[in-house]
Amino acid sequence: MNSIREHWGSRTGFILAAAGSAVGLGNIWKYPSMAGQHGGAAFTLVYLLCILIVGLPILLAELAIGRKTQLNPVGAFKQLASNPRWGWVGLMGVASAFMILSFYSVVGGWTLKYTFSALFGGFNQLAADNTASAEYFASFHTSPFAPLFWHFLFLGMCVFIIGRGVRSGIEQWSKVLMPLLLVILVILVIRGITLDGAKAGLDFLFKPRWSDLDASGIVLALGHSFFTISLGMGTMITYGSYLRSGSDLLKAGLWVVFLDTLIALLAGVAIFTAVFAQGQNPAEGPGLIFIVLPTLFPNIPGGAIFAPLFFFLLFVAALTSGISILEVVTAYYIDEKGWSRRRATYLFGAITGVSGALVSLSLGDFNILAPFGITYMDFLDGATSKYMLPLGGLLTAIFVITKWGIPNFSREVFSMTLGGRVPESVVTLILTVSGIVVAYIILKEMVEIFI
Ligand code: PHE
Repeated sequence: MNSIREHWGSRTGFILAAAGSAVGLGNIWKYPSMAGQHGGAAFTLVYLLCILIVGLPILLAELAIGRKTQLNPVGAFKQLASNPRWGWVGLMGVASAFMILSFYSVVGGWTLKYTFSALFGGFNQLAADNTASAEYFASFHTSPFAPLFWHFLFLGMCVFIIGRGVRSGIEQWSKVLMPLLLVILVILVIRGITLDGAKAGLDFLFKPRWSDLDASGIVLALGHSFFTISLGMGTMITYGSYLRSGSDLLKAGLWVVFLDTLIALLAGVAIFTAVFAQGQNPAEGPGLIFIVLPTLFPNIPGGAIFAPLFFFLLFVAALTSGISILEVVTAYYIDEKGWSRRRATYLFGAITGVSGALVSLSLGDFNILAPFGITYMDFLDGATSKYMLPLGGLLTAIFVITKWGIPNFSREVFSMTLGGRVPESVVTLILTVSGIVVAYIILKEMVEIFI
């Protein structure tokens, strides 16, 4: 067991690290493409509501569990429950971390490759040509070797940062990367809203058309509220465990949620203004970023600069999330198995490297799940964001209500709110509602598959 636990150097450092985990491909890649397909502003409103009703309470629960126990997710559940069986919830989180990082690192590699392509004029021949761009993307991401190189490079950076530890690794890098991310995003937003025809993009994002929102959009928004705040797999338990007691958890949680939402919306503005200014289709889905955007930049004044900036932004966002996923597993091996940080990061980095390579290969000619009609990537993404993360969140809510107890939870989170007199009934109600909403998402998904 590791007796000396590292702690964040400052509250700002923690907030930037946690926001760095939350802000990732989910905000800049997944959210805009989902909003594009499911009714723009209508989807966005549901998404915001889910963040408030489900995301925030479960975020607070995770942070509180981590800070209270000063342990990784498995150790934390076991300790507070005084029952080793609850450790399984943490273990499911560790498994989710492994699964998510396997595909996250592959897409992280794509962002690196696209940054370099954009930098060296690789998009010039794609101007306003979606077919050429789709071919360019397909020939890159389905090829057996090139994406592997970028995947290993991305993962190598995660291993490097996590190997350096909490303060000189995660915190130092987040303090540099997160402000950089915000600056780049603001530059891109200004470029977007000053384009001719940008207003149609803003209308799309901010004026709801409810008829475009179907039930699957609602379920997607619910599931995404987990993914985007990094919930349901113990990331926030792990990051919370490096906090010293005494700071205001509620305030910290609100900051993380605020930054995550703000950055998703700003990314939406930057992307949809450009998409609409050139009369493109917002409902392109996952190809929106890697296929449609490269066709737009050559026709945007200053596009040669904005293109690499955009993909670099995506890379930075992915990196600060990637490290947080790796930290969950690392913390588990350090706390529970007594491993050194180096050993845990290297070994797990290597295993994820192999699994990620399979993800990448399965997008081309080597799809190991072809008999089931899906790719290994879709399997990992679907299994985690549709089932494992919501289930992890649901069990966390149940755990707080039935095992740890609302009074203990409230003391940890609300000691500095309203003079520590937040009524227990209100807290129980909020956590119960978020639990019920999550249970609903999981059931709904299951019904779709089995019935
Ligand atoms: N929140 C990250 C994103 O939005 C993804 C993530 C999920 C990170 C789960 C950590 C844990 O991209």
